[in-house]
Amino acid sequence: MTPQDLMKQEVGKAAAARVQSNSIVGLGTGSTTAFAIEYIGKRLAAGEITNVKGIPTSFQARVLAKQYGIPLTTLDEVDRIDIAIDGADEVDPHKNLIKGGGAAHTQEKVIDALAAQFIVVVDNTKLVDRLGSTFLLPVEVIPMAVTPVMKAIEKLGGKPQLRMGIKKAGPVVTDQGNLVIDVKFDSIDNPAELEKTLNNIPGVLENGLFVGVTDLVLVGEVQGDQVIIKEM
Ligand code: A5P
Repeated sequence: MTPQDLMKQEVGKAAAARVQSNSIVGLGTGSTTAFAIEYIGKRLAAGEITNVKGIPTSFQARVLAKQYGIPLTTLDEVDRIDIAIDGADEVDPHKNLIKGGGAAHTQEKVIDALAAQFIVVVDNTKLVDRLGSTFLLPVEVIPMAVTPVMKAIEKLGGKPQLRMGIKKAGPVVTDQGNLVIDVKFDSIDNPAELEKTLNNIPGVLENGLFVGVTDLVLVGEVQGDQVIIKEM
């Protein structure tokens, strides 16, 4: 395992340890949350916790939850989400995020924002002083609106590019059947305003700015030959 994978594993484990019996858990997407899902499943199998139900944020989360034996439910069947655990591509000092590296940010935002407690799990490479400094901002768009949305984003000063598939010809298609535009902004000065502005462009479904949603960030960090977990 690489040091980064080790950080992801330990931080995922730390978040899974916070899940209590009789709770509804939002299951995030990505390689870090995958470890959290694995350890929630292991705790259930060991009888350490009981009566936990997951709500997946993506096809990936659904598959992992089934693999690790976590019973699933839907937003139609529950009236609360107690805790959501999810990764991020960037975390700023105000705990605002860029998400969507896995093209799952639309369902993630619905579930993470509903949770009574939203815990973000990252390794320390994800911490930035300012959002947009290392990662492009993902914007999910309905397919027929791609061209006008790209033009509107350029007018806002962004440089848009359609996300292309790897091991798939053509663009990435989201779990909802839409496309993703990744946008480079020179500087995101006001994430809250940009989040709203982007979502106001006709044809945009959701963008990857998560502002004022996070309750706690667990950060994995390598110190010597150990991984320590810091809280933010
Ligand atoms: C999925 O669309 C994303 O929001 C992920 O949560 C984010 O990309 C973090 O993924 P990793 O844990 O794999 O870095």
